[in-house]
Amino acid sequence: MLSLQEARKRVEELRREIREHDYYYYVLDNPRISDREYDALVRELENLERQYPELITPDSPTQRVGGEPLSEFKTVRHPMPLLSLANAFEPAELKDFDRRVRQLAGAQVDYVVEPKIDGLTVVLTYENGVLVQGATRGDGTVGEDVTENLRTIRMLPLSLPDAPPRLVVRGEAFMSKKAFLRLNEERDSRGELPFANPRNAAAGSIRQLDPRITASRPLGVFTYQVLVSEGVSLESQAEVLKYLEQVGLPVQEHCRHCRNIDEVIDYCKDWNEKRHSLPYEIDGMVVKVNSLRLQDALGSTAKSPRWAIAYKFPAEQVVTRILDIMVRVGRTGVLTPTAILEPVQVGGVTVSRATLHNEDMIREKDIRIGDFVVVQRAGDVIPEVVRVLTERRTGEEREFRMPDRCPECGSRVVRPEGEVAVRCTGIACPAQLKELILHFVSRDGMDIEGIGPALVTQLVDRRLVEDPADLYFLNKAEIIGLERMGEKSAENLLRAIEKSKGRGLAPLLFALGIRFVGTRAAEILAERFGSMEALSRASAEELTAIPEIGPKIAASIVAFFQEDQTRQVIEKLRQAGVKMEQEKPAADPRHLPLSGKQFVLTGTLSSFTRSEAEELIRRLGGKVSSSVSKKTDYVVVGENPGQKYVRARELGITILDEAGFLDLVSS
Ligand code: IVH
Repeated sequence: MLSLQEARKRVEELRREIREHDYYYYVLDNPRISDREYDALVRELENLERQYPELITPDSPTQRVGGEPLSEFKTVRHPMPLLSLANAFEPAELKDFDRRVRQLAGAQVDYVVEPKIDGLTVVLTYENGVLVQGATRGDGTVGEDVTENLRTIRMLPLSLPDAPPRLVVRGEAFMSKKAFLRLNEERDSRGELPFANPRNAAAGSIRQLDPRITASRPLGVFTYQVLVSEGVSLESQAEVLKYLEQVGLPVQEHCRHCRNIDEVIDYCKDWNEKRHSLPYEIDGMVVKVNSLRLQDALGSTAKSPRWAIAYKFPAEQVVTRILDIMVRVGRTGVLTPTAILEPVQVGGVTVSRATLHNEDMIREKDIRIGDFVVVQRAGDVIPEVVRVLTERRTGEEREFRMPDRCPECGSRVVRPEGEVAVRCTGIACPAQLKELILHFVSRDGMDIEGIGPALVTQLVDRRLVEDPADLYFLNKAEIIGLERMGEKSAENLLRAIEKSKGRGLAPLLFALGIRFVGTRAAEILAERFGSMEALSRASAEELTAIPEIGPKIAASIVAFFQEDQTRQVIEKLRQAGVKMEQEKPAADPRHLPLSGKQFVLTGTLSSFTRSEAEELIRRLGGKVSSSVSKKTDYVVVGENPGQKYVRARELGITILDEAGFLDLVSS
């Protein structure tokens, strides 16, 4: 074993090497060693840090994913307002921009042109060379502290040995096109809605409260602006970019210094053609006055600087033909018409379908099968039909009619009054059954680990499961017979299924997928009725008498229990031994000490986790809500409170610190 001193030396060496290789790999995209060699370095470092935990530092490459999920983000005030950019859509508008700038400058002006990464602004703060904070743009003045999430981005160095004592930079976080497509495939197979475009995916990933989720989503960052740099003097945007690169931050490689606006325009046109050659999306080019002194002199309007402008690429449109219109049945039984297109290239990808949203839209745009149409992809992956080229009609085109039977199960479809959506009424519709089973086993439902989309597909397709209760009658032989299932995994699965029987009434009610009954409503119903039996006999009047249950939920519950199929499933669940009673008899909530009081929690408490505190409040008859309003009675403020605290003060609501809260609940 190494001495502490030797270990420290080796640890430092390893970190230096790993950082260097991270830079080659993630920033320069030019690795110097094999993945295996790299893994060996990381493993050695991890081992040493395990042996000598005192050597762990927050900027160690092993510490990218840390910590527990947050309950909310803290707010961060930016060192200066983060402005956004005015747009230009035509070269002529760039000429106008140049004319204005030159008028104010009184001389010829040179520019820096940078690809406009289609992601989200982030602000990074390094103190003494260590990344101490990362924030979103927010409203430009105050953003959210997403440090833990940004730390998971491998392209972003956690430390910069050559940085000044304080360095604050602005950049853009993004998701590559490849990572985006992969993420959407995964989401699709889990029955989750896909992200519309990489920007949404990146923003959604960065605004995750659980950094482990962010870590699983490959993101990148490019920096382009220095907001604070103590003791460093920079004179031009070209120098800024060089400087950022020198200290070790990632900078987009296709930034170009142009001597005049004509060069700028050529470069923009050039990139309009080449934009798809990049592995991430760019939605335009940013044109910036090069001289920082001139930038200062030009200043800004309330919203955007006068020294920069975004040249936006035109949304790409192409003409293609609608070969057919198909109907897909979604998770909730909604039928969505989709145009099958003659495949065309648009926005760098081949598209062969476009969403038509619903029947009304097809009618409004008068879209027919066989039509030539203009299709547009505006940042979003799924393109849309802009208009029909009626002049190209031959008379052979066919009008589309929504089927009156579900294409998946043949049941009748209905279009409820006032809705645009058409729904399948089949309870045993396989498209819906798979979704229902996934919902049934989900974490807030029966929480059965090990059942994913692939397994559900097999269970449903082989008719081993025809309703959720069938899960409880699976046997080992049946499970082993499935793909990728061995003895061991079958046993684990059976154990998980068995365990779920005791989940309790509220999770079970949620799991059954009653329309409009989410986790909160399920809890209220369980608390109020105490058993499945009692709830199944409740009338709409009894249900709407409960403050949080409206007529829509009530009607849906009554209808649910009237179905024969529901009764059968519940009976089967009962026979399987699934618990259907609430733990303790429901107390009359009016006599509880906090009854009628509404609470909002913010920040971290030291003697409870967030959910323990919420549970406690509810047990005592209080309500917990996630946002502060005039109806809030108390705001409980822990360590590092968020904006709810500010809002509570604005509204003059009683604020309790942890001690005050403890007093209240124990009194
Ligand atoms: S400069 C005052 N440079 O585009 C400086 N912005 O539409 C303003 N963006 O909010 C930003 N790449 O999120 C700048 N190379 C780049 C950029 C860039 C992407 C984003 C940024 C900004 C938005 C403005």
